[in-house]
Amino acid sequence: SVIRAGSYSEELVKTAKTIASPGRGILAIDESNATCGKRLASIGLDNTEANRQAYRQLLLTTPGLGQYISGSILFEETLFQSTTDGKKMVDCLREQNIVPGIKVDKGLVPLPGSNNESWCQGLDGLASRSAEYYKQGARFAKWRTVVSIPCGPSALAVKEAAWGLARYAAISQDNGLVPIVEPEILLDGDHSIETTLEVAERVWAEVFYYLAENNVMFEGILLKPSMVTPGADHKEKADPETIAKYTLTMLKRRVPPAVPGIMFLSGGQSEMEATLNLHAMNQSPNPWHVSFSYARALQNSVLKAWQGRPENVEVAQKALLARAKANSLAQLGKYSA
Ligand code: 13P
Repeated sequence: SVIRAGSYSEELVKTAKTIASPGRGILAIDESNATCGKRLASIGLDNTEANRQAYRQLLLTTPGLGQYISGSILFEETLFQSTTDGKKMVDCLREQNIVPGIKVDKGLVPLPGSNNESWCQGLDGLASRSAEYYKQGARFAKWRTVVSIPCGPSALAVKEAAWGLARYAAISQDNGLVPIVEPEILLDGDHSIETTLEVAERVWAEVFYYLAENNVMFEGILLKPSMVTPGADHKEKADPETIAKYTLTMLKRRVPPAVPGIMFLSGGQSEMEATLNLHAMNQSPNPWHVSFSYARALQNSVLKAWQGRPENVEVAQKALLARAKANSLAQLGKYSA
């Protein structure tokens, strides 16, 4: 076999299977400091390290979270951070049997020569950073690049996104981290669901072409796709059954069954939409575990409940648990509103 994931092969398969376990999904809290600042600003808090710590501590110490959450993606600051009581954030996760993950990309910058599109930085020094993250307790990684439909997407942007993801995936596996492969196809635009399907098929074909060329072991990766929906400004909205039909059609055409898990992003959907769409996708058996890796669709009601007040921590944690449980049921195809 040409597939070589180095000395970590067995561990990678085990980690991926643990994350893709029935009734569980990923809590994404890997917002960069700038993005976390926007979330804090929405409830009138300053973007200080202490406020980010208080917020992440609230999320990660939620009692019972491990029943519904199998992994949590952290930003670098959180991976190396402790709670206000001096306990490592990664230990809070491990106690609940939640696998710690780490965002390893360095964000998006303009892609010269393209149609106003962007590319994702972070390959320089990635191997040594990944080794450090592993030592600190991380067992999976995330790299998010974006593809814009209104801007094309150009062949150049798609190729760059796919190649970057494949290089990152190979480097992650070589250092014991299960790579989450995330080419986010942005919701922006007024295009139809057929256009999204066509673009998603093009993007995933290219991603898997380069993953194979880089000898990435498919049994040790996870995907984080966008659901196939009409553009946010399209004249008609699609119902969950239609979104499920188009999304599963795309995945079945493009994703080999060797891949253990599909962990969707919420991409600006409301909490309820994200849950109902996931539920619709689990109404019949799929070749892979079909689950969630939501940030906004798990955090919106938590932020609202918390308001930065210590006396609201408990009710905010209950809000998180309620969203996590709803998505857990949706993963099992058993959610009812
Ligand atoms: P959303 O679920 O808010 O789209 O976040 C996606 C993401 O990539 C966070 O890790």
